[in-house]
Amino acid sequence: MADRRIGIVELHEVQATGGGARGRDQRLIRNPRGRDVPESAEPGIGAMAPLNYLEAERFDPEFQRAAQVRHSNRDMRDRVGHKPYTIWEPTGQIQVHIMTIAANKKVVLTHAIEGVPKPQDFRVIESTVDEPQDGQILVRHIYLSLDPYQRPAIAGRHSADRTPLGEGGMPTGETIGQIVTSRHPDFSAGDYVRHFGGWQEFSVVDAASAGTVDPARAPLSTHLGVLGMPGLTAYASIVKLAKVKAGQTVLVSAAAGPVGATLGQIAMQMGARVSGIAGSDEKCRYVTDELGFDYCLNYKSDDYPASLTEIAGQGFDIYHDNVGGRMLEEALGVLKPYGTVVLCGLMSQYNNPDEAKGLYIGLPIMKRAVMKGLVVFDYEDRREEFFDLVAPWIRDGKVRYKEDRVAGIENTGAHFSRLMSGRNFGKALVVIGPESA
Ligand SMILES: NC(=O)c1ccc[n+]([C@@H]2O[C@H](COP(=O)([O-])OP(=O)(O)OC[C@H]3O[C@@H](n4cnc5c(N)ncnc54)[C@H](OP(=O)(O)O)[C@@H]3O)[C@@H](O)[C@H]2O)c1
Repeated sequence: MADRRIGIVELHEVQATGGGARGRDQRLIRNPRGRDVPESAEPGIGAMAPLNYLEAERFDPEFQRAAQVRHSNRDMRDRVGHKPYTIWEPTGQIQVHIMTIAANKKVVLTHAIEGVPKPQDFRVIESTVDEPQDGQILVRHIYLSLDPYQRPAIAGRHSADRTPLGEGGMPTGETIGQIVTSRHPDFSAGDYVRHFGGWQEFSVVDAASAGTVDPARAPLSTHLGVLGMPGLTAYASIVKLAKVKAGQTVLVSAAAGPVGATLGQIAMQMGARVSGIAGSDEKCRYVTDELGFDYCLNYKSDDYPASLTEIAGQGFDIYHDNVGGRMLEEALGVLKPYGTVVLCGLMSQYNNPDEAKGLYIGLPIMKRAVMKGLVVFDYEDRREEFFDLVAPWIRDGKVRYKEDRVAGIENTGAHFSRLMSGRNFGKALVVIGPESA
């Protein structure tokens, strides 16, 4: 036998057992998810459920590559209850792997959302995941990133997403996951990938849309936060658009979040002096005491915005705007003449576009301001240079980050509600599964 480490089951002996299947001679054990799975003669083999499948993969990473012949068998599919599966046949003996992800949970809208999202705007449903086709990968999600842009995307108001989500729609979301099955030559089972997997536990996607993530370079979750899209946004703003220089003064709103906090710290590393605006005293203490900003103002306190004028001195050279609306106007009021404003986000308006009002254009005129809009996707090709700059600072403790985590896909809606009402403290993440299955 070419590879005894992989469970061997003869086709005619396979029969359905709940979420999996078993051979006649195999004894059933319970896996940690409570499903019946077969125990084979050797450890980590005979995979019949996703968890055990991953065990088999870990036990023998060459599992897939060893298979010379792979085909689906309709007759077999019928016998195991129309579940997707793959038959591996490397040596003439048939190895059966049931690929059913019977318990894929996804979060969908209960109805179209009005205003600030509420936990009850979302519900969890169970669905199946298709078997990956040529060029595709099946991914088990580990971390799901919750980001403010998802709110306008849900409403069909995002530049990249103009179709509103209605009842039953699943929001988009970037994920870090581990490949369960690969049908692309450049990807292997067990690889970690970053892609837009959505608010669910598993996804099947074109491998070309995923990027591999090396867990040895940085903790997996950071690829969604300080070293991921929000960090790249900060880098693009302060280095590429504002072109910060030593000695300049920088002001940033939503300063305790992943974009604001990373931006301020990059600017400090480049010799700038940084002040922030945030929504609570606790956030402000973090921004000054832990991150090292000169000042942080709580915009909900009574002395704001007078306090902004006080700390501004001669004015700020650069303002990075995450909020829009009145906060943008107040910041323009304390900008130096010829200063730069990077327009990045509209936190004050995502939940309620009626809040949007025109900026009094006399303000940037009087300031001779240079105003630049930012879309992070324009900087995708800068990801590596950004990573190479910032990752060492994180390792050396010069740049810090904070994560606002919740565990369990069923808590995604409530966590999104927390983010969109400004109650998150750090990068909003949902932990969907363990890093190693
Ligand atoms: N242009 C791009 O390509 C791009 C890319 C990434 C991110 N962004 C934008 O960058 C901004 C920051 O993103 P992030 O991921 O770092 O988010 P974040 O800071 O973790 O969360 C958003 C924060 O906005 C603040 N906020 C201010 N006004 C608010 C209001 N009216 N309602 C609710 N929250 C309010 C809240 O903090 P406080 O307690 O401090 O108010 C909240 O925690 C967002 O606007 C986002 O859309 C843009």
